[in-house]
Amino acid sequence: MTCIASRLSAVKPSASMAVSQAAKELAATGIDVIDLGLGEPDFAAPAHITKAAFEAASRERMLYTASLGTPDLRKAIAAKFKRENGLDYALDQIAVANGAKQIIFNALMASVEEGDEILLPAPYFVSYPEMAKLFGGVPVTPECLAEAGFRLTPEVLEASITDKTRWLFLNMPSNPSGAVYSKEQLQALGAVLAKHPQVLILSDEIYEHIIFDGRTFVSFGAASPELLERTLVVNGVSKAYAMTGWRVGYAAGPKDLIKAMATVQSQSCTSVSAPAQIAAKAALEGPQDEVSTFCAAFERRRNLVVEGISRIDALTLDPPEGAFYAYIGCAALIGAVTPSGQTLADDVAVAKYLLDEGHVAAVPGTAYGLSPFFRISTATSEEVLIEAVTRIGRAVAKLKK
Ligand SMILES: Cc1ncc(COP(=O)(O)O)c(C=O)c1O
Repeated sequence: MTCIASRLSAVKPSASMAVSQAAKELAATGIDVIDLGLGEPDFAAPAHITKAAFEAASRERMLYTASLGTPDLRKAIAAKFKRENGLDYALDQIAVANGAKQIIFNALMASVEEGDEILLPAPYFVSYPEMAKLFGGVPVTPECLAEAGFRLTPEVLEASITDKTRWLFLNMPSNPSGAVYSKEQLQALGAVLAKHPQVLILSDEIYEHIIFDGRTFVSFGAASPELLERTLVVNGVSKAYAMTGWRVGYAAGPKDLIKAMATVQSQSCTSVSAPAQIAAKAALEGPQDEVSTFCAAFERRRNLVVEGISRIDALTLDPPEGAFYAYIGCAALIGAVTPSGQTLADDVAVAKYLLDEGHVAAVPGTAYGLSPFFRISTATSEEVLIEAVTRIGRAVAKLKK
């Protein structure tokens, strides 16, 4: 006899959380573990953001707000979409939720019927398939190989769409691969989608501001404006402003979908916390110089990791184009034998070996739907990253083929 609903039977807890838990357990035995499992910026949020929230909370009462978010915050979001992405949205096309994650959750709850297919180009963000399954959706996960820059191609997209496809999820820069799409690449995908009017598009642009080598970020909405009436552009303040714990995400999209998402929100958490919405407004409207400083730091760390990994023959890594992860290929390690005589059968075993032998916590590619890889987060100091790459190199050198 269980008290757990059957809809949870196929849903897994977050893989990156599980890795961090394993790292914590090892660290509790006194071992010095470097945890590169979780992805959250290691900077403090810019001071004016926290100040705005604290001042407001000490000055006035903090009450429930509209489920879609305060009009003030939605105005700041509309201005952001106009200024940074060239997109025009009315306030009733904008929703605010407790993180981009809750935005996605609300959107799926509002739109997915049992058996609908959710197209998730792999490697994908770990939560997408699990959320899809919660609502009876069926994840379809075409592999986007390293040789194709981990990008979905028009051919693979066309071959993956069926009459049951409800959503295509795009995520750029990608967690875990860092892949970014050019305007032309997005338009080529848009041309395929134009032929399939039943497909909604969710463009997760939460890493928009963490983009390297002088690339310009192009929102899917801006590249394919003819698809805007079925596109949900998702973003949030977690990554750009180092505000993960404030829990503010937002989206813009078709009015009927946004309205349905507001209904979901009003019957669950009511609204995002009022001070957090004030902080998010300050983030979007205030000075943006620290966003560039964070990005420059992430780019230096990316360079350092790419350089370090290039010195380990058995591993592969093309420079990630954005976000703060390195998705490292480990095909040459599969079948290798550890000093204790274990054969590494897959990337789960590789990640476990790196933790046990190198004391570095990384997430296996299996969690992102594309193997054999492991993901490390580069959201930590340069010294820690240098030490982590050195440890990975040492552990790999102990393996026998
Ligand atoms: C691709 C992607 N989307 C969404 C999120 C969730 O962001 P938020 O903190 O706004 O819920 C993450 C967080 O890791 C992410 O990597």
